[in-house]
Amino acid sequence: MEAKVAPAVSLGAEIVDRINALAAISEMPDNITRIFLTPEHRAAAELIMGWMRDAGMAAHLDAIGNVCGRYEGERPGLPCLMLGSHYDTVRDAGRWDGPLGIITAIACVGDLHRRGKKLPFALEVTGFADEEGVRFASTLLGSRAIAGTFDESALGGKDKTGIRMYEAMRAFGLDPDHVGAAARAPSELLGYVELHIEQGPVLEAKKLPVGVVTAIAGATRLAVELRGMAGHAGTVPMALRRDALAGAAECIVAIEEFCATDRDGLVGTVGYINAMPGATNVIPGMVSFTIDIRSPRDSYRKLAVADIVRQIEEIVKRRHLTLEINVTHENRTVPCAPWLQKQVAEAVKAEGYRVFELPSGAGHDGMAMIDIADVAMLFVRCRGGISHHPDEHVDLTDAEAGARVLLRLIEDFKAKG
Ligand code: GLV
Ligand code: MN
Ligand code: MN
Repeated sequence: MEAKVAPAVSLGAEIVDRINALAAISEMPDNITRIFLTPEHRAAAELIMGWMRDAGMAAHLDAIGNVCGRYEGERPGLPCLMLGSHYDTVRDAGRWDGPLGIITAIACVGDLHRRGKKLPFALEVTGFADEEGVRFASTLLGSRAIAGTFDESALGGKDKTGIRMYEAMRAFGLDPDHVGAAARAPSELLGYVELHIEQGPVLEAKKLPVGVVTAIAGATRLAVELRGMAGHAGTVPMALRRDALAGAAECIVAIEEFCATDRDGLVGTVGYINAMPGATNVIPGMVSFTIDIRSPRDSYRKLAVADIVRQIEEIVKRRHLTLEINVTHENRTVPCAPWLQKQVAEAVKAEGYRVFELPSGAGHDGMAMIDIADVAMLFVRCRGGISHHPDEHVDLTDAEAGARVLLRLIEDFKAKG
């Protein structure tokens, strides 16, 4: 007979402890920065795999560096309900964006394991290796590999130090010629459910610990390069300059103004800029910057991107600069599957919370997983709507609420009929 142990009193306490343990793994001593294919990636993966094994799962690193844990069902080899999120971070990140979904899912499996409970399906927890796309200007690399949609041309992409993804994978101990081995068949998955912090202020305003996600807003990311003419800051008259940085500044303000006029949830961000040669007394000859445009309406986003590109072309022409502009990421808006979303809502209700539905403005691994599985998401309230910032915070009681809802969802889960 299997030993039965009482369920943990507080999953929230375990979750918070582990969030803090993972936050300590960073390339920077005084902030959280954990980037794809770095020593911190490796250390975080090892820590997560240890937690998975403690929770009764078999764990391994797949061909792109995702952490994969599997808890068998009533008999080995059953299709799985996949849970998960990402464990890479932006630079100077908060500690909850991504890890909360992985750690909570492991806590739920650990609870089942302690009770000796097996389900009529397997559970898998995936820690996606790269969702943020910080290192190689291409995002959702981990989930795309699992979905079988990894674009091999991404292997040629370089990081800011000139290292290609291909070489970075080899240095990490992965085989870049076999990323395809990470792909899973749709028949292996009953669905994909991700718990994530809301990263916005809505749940806090509604005084609710959790929310049911309806859809993930689509996004386009662009890489822009402007070239002018570098020159002496003291000798070149203003009228004769071809200043790439001044041109970029005009583009950035144009993007901000375009998105700021009320446009149905359209948002635009220039989050990275680099000016060359980068000296006080030299007119910048070359500037590269990124653009991130999002909207819950795909048709609207596409029109907005076309309009913004047109404006940039005009600015560049007027300033006698040259332009190279490339789309580095494009994702349509992903709706959560009604049948799965309904089960998330029922779990919220069963745990005694009001069901509140909201869309996600942030991107998530579900945007790639949709290609092999129906997707649903549960949001957990965060303080002040703050995310992608060190002040990101989730109360222990909300972490507990999220875990209870996820556990209820898992235990009551019914595969699509
Ligand atoms: C991921 O955090 C994104 O929405 O960019
Ligand atoms: Mn993020
Ligand atoms: Mn995230």
